Amino acid sequence: MALSDEVKARLDIVEAVSQYVPDLKKAGRYYRARCPFHAERTPSFYVFPERQSWRCFGACATGGDVLGFVMRAENLGFGEALRLLADRTGVAIPSRQRQAEWEPLLRANQEAAHFFQECLASARGAGARSYLERRGVGAAAVQTFSLGFSPGGGDELRRHLAGLGLSDELLLSAGLVTGGQEGPLRDMFRGRLMFPIRDAGGRVVGFGGRALDDSTPKYLNTPRTPVFDKGHLLYALDLAREAIRRADQAVVVEGYMDAIAAHEHGYSNVVASMGTALTEHQVAALRGMAGHFVLALDPDAAGQEATVRSLESSWKVFEQRAAVQGRGGVTLYERGQAGGSLRVAVLPPGEDPDQLIRRRPQEWRELMQGAKGVLDYLFGRVAAMADLSTPQGKARVAERLFPLVASVENPFEQERYFRLLAETLGVSPTTLEASVGRPLPRRGRRRAPEAAASPFASGQRDPLEEHILALLLQYPELADQAAGLISEHFRNLENQAVFTAWREHGIIDISAGLDEDLTEYLATLLSEELPPSDRGERARSVVACVRRLEERRLRELKSQEEMLWDQAVQDGEGEQAEQLQRQMVATNERLRSLFAEKHG
Ligand code: UTP
Ligand code: MN
Repeated sequence: MALSDEVKARLDIVEAVSQYVPDLKKAGRYYRARCPFHAERTPSFYVFPERQSWRCFGACATGGDVLGFVMRAENLGFGEALRLLADRTGVAIPSRQRQAEWEPLLRANQEAAHFFQECLASARGAGARSYLERRGVGAAAVQTFSLGFSPGGGDELRRHLAGLGLSDELLLSAGLVTGGQEGPLRDMFRGRLMFPIRDAGGRVVGFGGRALDDSTPKYLNTPRTPVFDKGHLLYALDLAREAIRRADQAVVVEGYMDAIAAHEHGYSNVVASMGTALTEHQVAALRGMAGHFVLALDPDAAGQEATVRSLESSWKVFEQRAAVQGRGGVTLYERGQAGGSLRVAVLPPGEDPDQLIRRRPQEWRELMQGAKGVLDYLFGRVAAMADLSTPQGKARVAERLFPLVASVENPFEQERYFRLLAETLGVSPTTLEASVGRPLPRRGRRRAPEAAASPFASGQRDPLEEHILALLLQYPELADQAAGLISEHFRNLENQAVFTAWREHGIIDISAGLDEDLTEYLATLLSEELPPSDRGERARSVVACVRRLEERRLRELKSQEEMLWDQAVQDGEGEQAEQLQRQMVATNERLRSLFAEKHG
């Protein structure tokens, strides 16, 4: 069984939805509430226990299964929602092997975090406690961030965890202990202020440990482990997620201390990149939660080539995503369309957000408000880094900035940046156009499939959905014929995710829009053998598939509407029944015209 089916089989949709929608009430064979995804007075949100599905018949006009609901409710991508539900239901996550490997590592980290917390509260944590006090970190933040202290002795943590039955091998692979071979095993973190690093789901996956004096390194971090990859994580994301979603904005700072100060001062949509340039993974994670971002850069980092490079690439990811909607399922996210933004705030020299927020909060607010659009920022940086007095210098700047201009989706914006590029280079727009051309939408190139079976592909498959996806992926020129295809046509969530990624990113960048878990499945679709056919046949085949999928969708909609209408009549809910009747008429009309098309 596919993992998603396994997860769904163990969940009851009514129970799962009730956790998010407390006023969900039984109404005959269904459950009903005011829709959690839009504001309304009369309830038009339904849950169908028999089909284990839900639908909003009101303004959202969407629906799906429990996984889709959680994706939408938690603003998660397919893989994340799956993992969250997998956790809740105790279903093993993708490769069972991975799960088996992760569990003990997570336990070791969790136990270590507890130990460090206890040490901080104990007598030997006195030094660390007074350090925190000096830095202005309050007791509440110490709790919220589960700060701790690692004793300075040799292997206290190791001995404590051994007492809990955790082996040396485990502690070594969790990065909590170091040494071996020639020397004895020692605790990785000794005499440091400990910052547990949690994943978006709140699980401790690693640590940052700060020296309490000037010794180096200032911070020691958990080395890369199967559960800890700095480039995939953002510090404080578990705490910030809700606020990011509510504000539709995330602020990214660099340091642990910066994030803590921000949260202490009520800026709870702040996360820290932990000192390194933002990765695409991090951008993608944030992108699934909000549309607007501000990066607070310290002026040194801001000047660095690495930061500028990473901004260039995150900008591309950002702009592509902004053009359509969030990841996961297109119908589930209605962001992006309203427009997103990525802005950069450069801090005053010698100061970091921690100091600014604590000392001059007003200035911090102004800095955030005055943050510049990332493209404007990049134009300035790239130009400053090059020698614009030589033709070679100009060519290099044009080479770097032109692709960025080309990826701007909004044509007016694109025109503005095209002019700005000309201006930056000191040439007229006409000259620029003659030398590099006009920015054009990117065209598809096929990515080589990596042959491997997907962990998902073994479950309930849908041949029709797979067929149209394989066609579209293998013959990019068929995109026009699939114009009417929407993500709601796909019942299978894996297929839906692939479709969404294809539509958002095009074939060339499709994997940028897909959870890693699905890349293998993508490869199987890409390498699926299709019956020999000519171009015309393929085009007709796509049109026919779209029609069948639409018919299927409408029939399903119709039967749901009928059920509800029955119920509403029984319950004497006139207004509701009338509304449903109008919807049934419309759905019927659509079905009729579909038939007319097919036979006429
Ligand atoms: P900062 O030096 O700005 O750290 O580095 P900070 O959080 O503001 O700490 P204080 O205020 O000096 O106590 C930013 C981030 O870079 C990473 C850490 O994640 C840190 O929070 N870093 C820094 C390291 O991983 N190792 C280091 O040696 C230094
Ligand atoms: Mn600092």
